[in-house]
Amino acid sequence: MNCLGIETSCDETAAAVVRGGREILSSVVRTQVDLHRVFGGVVPEIACRAHAEAIGPVVERAVADAGLKLPDIDVVAVTCQPGLIGALLVGVSAAKSLAWALGKPIVGVDHIEAHLYANRLVHADFAYPNVGLVVSGGHTSLYYSRGPADHERLGATRDDAAGEAFDKVAKILGLGYPGGPIIDKLARQGNAKAVDMPRLDDGGPDFSFSGVKTAVLYKWKGQNVGKGRKPKVAVPPPRIEDLAASFQEAVVDALVSRTMRAAETRGVAQVAMGGGVACNSRLREKMDEASAKRGFKLFYPPLNLCTDNAAMIAGLGTALFELGRMSNLELDAVATR
Ligand code: KG4
Ligand code: ZN
Repeated sequence: MNCLGIETSCDETAAAVVRGGREILSSVVRTQVDLHRVFGGVVPEIACRAHAEAIGPVVERAVADAGLKLPDIDVVAVTCQPGLIGALLVGVSAAKSLAWALGKPIVGVDHIEAHLYANRLVHADFAYPNVGLVVSGGHTSLYYSRGPADHERLGATRDDAAGEAFDKVAKILGLGYPGGPIIDKLARQGNAKAVDMPRLDDGGPDFSFSGVKTAVLYKWKGQNVGKGRKPKVAVPPPRIEDLAASFQEAVVDALVSRTMRAAETRGVAQVAMGGGVACNSRLREKMDEASAKRGFKLFYPPLNLCTDNAAMIAGLGTALFELGRMSNLELDAVATR
């Protein structure tokens, strides 16, 4: 069965064709990052317009790259939540039009659950139950998964998502956008123990990254910055590489400790990661070490399937279709989850 997946939840216009829920026949991702870079973050109105312009050609390309014609598509899957509402609507409208014109079923897919499904596209031995960590620009959540479409949320961030913290810290340090890959690279030249970072842990499954972000702001620009008083700058100020490495280490430690704890509590043998921040080299390294130490089998997708893509949407869409969980032409976009 050939499933066409469509993804427009944030700043990537993507389409892909997946056969049988696991074999990626094509995957096209048109990023808008250059349009948003000058603003230091995603501008929703610009994102919507760019999606509307790109969606047609991106879908055509995905179908052609798969060596197929539109009538060869058996089911259309589309991200319907969560994301920027206007951006989601472009994908949902395109998917509905295609499904109607082709007379094929449509399946609405949750973007966060699809990030976990990405593992199933590339790891033949990926199995359930498992504990999965989704770390992206918009979300940081831990799940206990019984199947590709059966997830129980164990914990989530109370404030910033991990990727959002990376992006905001890069902005504070004047490093550019998106911040995650830049900090990842810079941190390799820094000492992660050089700068003290807050490491709060109440023993539960939730995350909080606003404290580390504020710590970076104060260490870099001075305490009291933005409070109408003269900022007190540390003397000497930290090296930017050390600050980046110390920040990254604090975020990574929080992600690893909660994930390991949840996996131990739930008694699973498998642990998974997904989402853009799962590209982070230090996170992969420390998660590898921690999982090996406890005997968990760890899964994460290759870089191009960690960041937003439509192959994960087509994959999970197929699984939902097989479970009989189709949508219809009344499918709507929902901004939150
Ligand atoms: O999953 P994704 O592509 O989009 C959302 O669903 O949000 O994730 C994008 C996020 C951005 O915040 C970006 O800075 C972060 O993933 N990211 C990274 C790395 N590569 C991308 N964060 C840390 N280290 C990386 N290497
Ligand atoms: Zn995402």
